[in-house]
Amino acid sequence: MLVVEGGHPLDGVVTCSGSKNAFLPIAAAALLTTEEVTVRRVPDLADVRLILNILKGLGCEIFHDRPTSTVRIQARELPLGEAGWEDVRKMRGSVYVLGPLLARTGTAKVSLPGGCVIGQRPIDIHLRGLQDLGADVAIDHGHVVASVPGSRLRGKHLYLGGPSGSSVGATGNIMMAACLAEGETIIEGAACEPEIVDLGGFLKAMGAKIEGLGSPRICIQGVEQLSGCEYEIIPDRIEAGTYVIAGAMTGGRVKVEGCEPGHLSVLLARLHEAGVPLEMGKGFIETQSFDAREGLRATDVTTLPYPGFPTDLQAQWMALMTQAPGISVITEKIYPDRYMHMPELLRLGAELRRQNAGTAIVQGGKPLSGAPVMASDLRASAALVLAGLIAQDETEIHRVYHIDRGYERIEERLGGLGAVIRRESDPWEG
Ligand code: EPU
Repeated sequence: MLVVEGGHPLDGVVTCSGSKNAFLPIAAAALLTTEEVTVRRVPDLADVRLILNILKGLGCEIFHDRPTSTVRIQARELPLGEAGWEDVRKMRGSVYVLGPLLARTGTAKVSLPGGCVIGQRPIDIHLRGLQDLGADVAIDHGHVVASVPGSRLRGKHLYLGGPSGSSVGATGNIMMAACLAEGETIIEGAACEPEIVDLGGFLKAMGAKIEGLGSPRICIQGVEQLSGCEYEIIPDRIEAGTYVIAGAMTGGRVKVEGCEPGHLSVLLARLHEAGVPLEMGKGFIETQSFDAREGLRATDVTTLPYPGFPTDLQAQWMALMTQAPGISVITEKIYPDRYMHMPELLRLGAELRRQNAGTAIVQGGKPLSGAPVMASDLRASAALVLAGLIAQDETEIHRVYHIDRGYERIEERLGGLGAVIRRESDPWEG
């Protein structure tokens, strides 16, 4: 567990890691070639180890050099073609192996990921997209079983949107599959997230022909084979945003270096509206010290696909808004049930309530007081750590393994900024 002693002002510099959600599809894309790929700036996270383990299980050779944050992957042969429930249930991102495996070998068997605490997370759009490219897809005993009837998938003009707009995962999966398909694929309703642009950059470095990255219309000319490459992934915008919010909550001066402010435009605009003084420049964002109790203003956000407010910063924003006097409204349009952090923030003394589907109301401005709380998922646990930074006395965050999925050594990073935070063995686990 993490134990956070609240009330210590933050001041200092923290360096952003590489993006987890960019690395996961990029690692899966290594399946598209027999040659070795080298990926730099890979964060040292539980989810990274999981995807590498899945790739190893499929037959890849993996070399992970943690001191240099470098991963080398070579998928010389893929004899197994199957990713099972044991791995996939731990991380939905593992579904990214489906498209590349199918495109490379002509068959794939991947366990259906199922739901998770942030709500229903179907993969129907992924499957529809692969069917559009000519694959036979069936669900059999909890697995997606897919095969290519001819020798290759066939390019197609297809629409990939779903009920909540574009899908990051489906866009990534179909993009990867289309790179080795015969002819042209045009994806309408494509996700515009920086992580998808980064995946596209990696595929182009492998020799793929892709245009329109970052727009809702991506065109891919299939090629017969792809080659190895070297690539450095983008900084993690969600990690960066979390540390910026930590600065804002505590009224501290926190400089997040090695990030891309352009990927966080909506967060920066909302923080400005919320009265948080900020400076930014090439590769950095810095909160300026201010009296957060006096200066924060209640500010509404609605989560939307990029460039809208990221759902992955919604919980952290709620933690911030508990300190802004007045009422703020949070509307979650991607995962309407992604509010597992609310009961835990209530235990710290926050005033919150759910309105109708997807909406939460925060009555901010009340001091929080430390208590034991339970992390339910990655971003919810980050929100609890943030709340702990300003709560009176100690906050114990249990089930902290969630946070290790997406934040590299968070206690060291926050400790370096002056937070008093320590990791202890958890009497509730094991
Ligand atoms: N959806 C469908 N059918 C599908 C796919 C998605 O209905 O086949 C729905 C989802 O249920 C959701 C919406 O479409 O309502 C968007 O989901 P999307 O596919 O974009 O999400 P994802 O690819 O499963 C990625 C991130 C999530 C992040 C979301 C939204 C990775 C590995 N995961 O998930 O990150 O919240 O995009 O931005 O990239 C996290 O890092 O904590 C995390 C959960």
